[in-house]
Amino acid sequence: MSSNNRPTDIGINRTGIALSPIDGPLMAEGASAAPPSSTGSARDAATVRLQYAVEAGDFGHMPPPLTLRGAANTAVELLKGTKANVLLDKLGERLAFERTGVRFYDGLIIKFEASGTWEGGPTLEELVAFRDDEARHFDLMVQTLTALGADPTAMTPSADLAAVEGLGVLQVISDPRTGLAQALHAQQIAELADVAGWDQLACLAETLGHTELTAQCRSALAQENLHAAAVARWLKAHAEIAARGELSAAS
Ligand SMILES: [Fe+2]
Ligand SMILES: [Fe+2]
Repeated sequence: MSSNNRPTDIGINRTGIALSPIDGPLMAEGASAAPPSSTGSARDAATVRLQYAVEAGDFGHMPPPLTLRGAANTAVELLKGTKANVLLDKLGERLAFERTGVRFYDGLIIKFEASGTWEGGPTLEELVAFRDDEARHFDLMVQTLTALGADPTAMTPSADLAAVEGLGVLQVISDPRTGLAQALHAQQIAELADVAGWDQLACLAETLGHTELTAQCRSALAQENLHAAAVARWLKAHAEIAARGELSAAS
């Protein structure tokens, strides 16, 4: 079970060199007397990293196309060539991101149930509604990829990248010690990236002539803008209440 302390209450925290007025300066002295490594410098480390970057190869590839039989003729036309692969990669990215977004909200709902909310914070209904938005966005990507004759279960390079990028957010939300506000602070990163992702996909779809998809992406973008604004509003209210010393222990 969670403790009754708020994160901003004073507790066991031994960081900060000023707590050690004698050993602190001695350590700083020792650090400046000894070079970081007797055999290498920061420049040498950068040279090694550069070598790895040149030799390491790519971060994933697109899967080969499925048979186009069964896909609508216009979709088949639009699916040909490099442009189509760029679009399929970005569709795969949004699919992966929205799927993870549903899981993020599942985690936030658990935080809500564990510790409740605060004045100006989210209601359970809002969290559930946002979770449902993410699920609908995921479903839109599944339908879009399927209509284009692509496999929605394929992990595209951009999908893989987005999954790795989201690991920090996932760790914060799934950590049983974090509260709802701390988890929402992580979610804010996801929502801001979500807004940027839908905006980019809408622009790409428009450039490639997918009129209906462009409209669908703009509609999702409008919902993501609401998510991002709501999360920012909830966090501001939380910080203000905390600063006034009016936060209940669990929040
Ligand atoms: Fe989303
Ligand atoms: Fe969202």
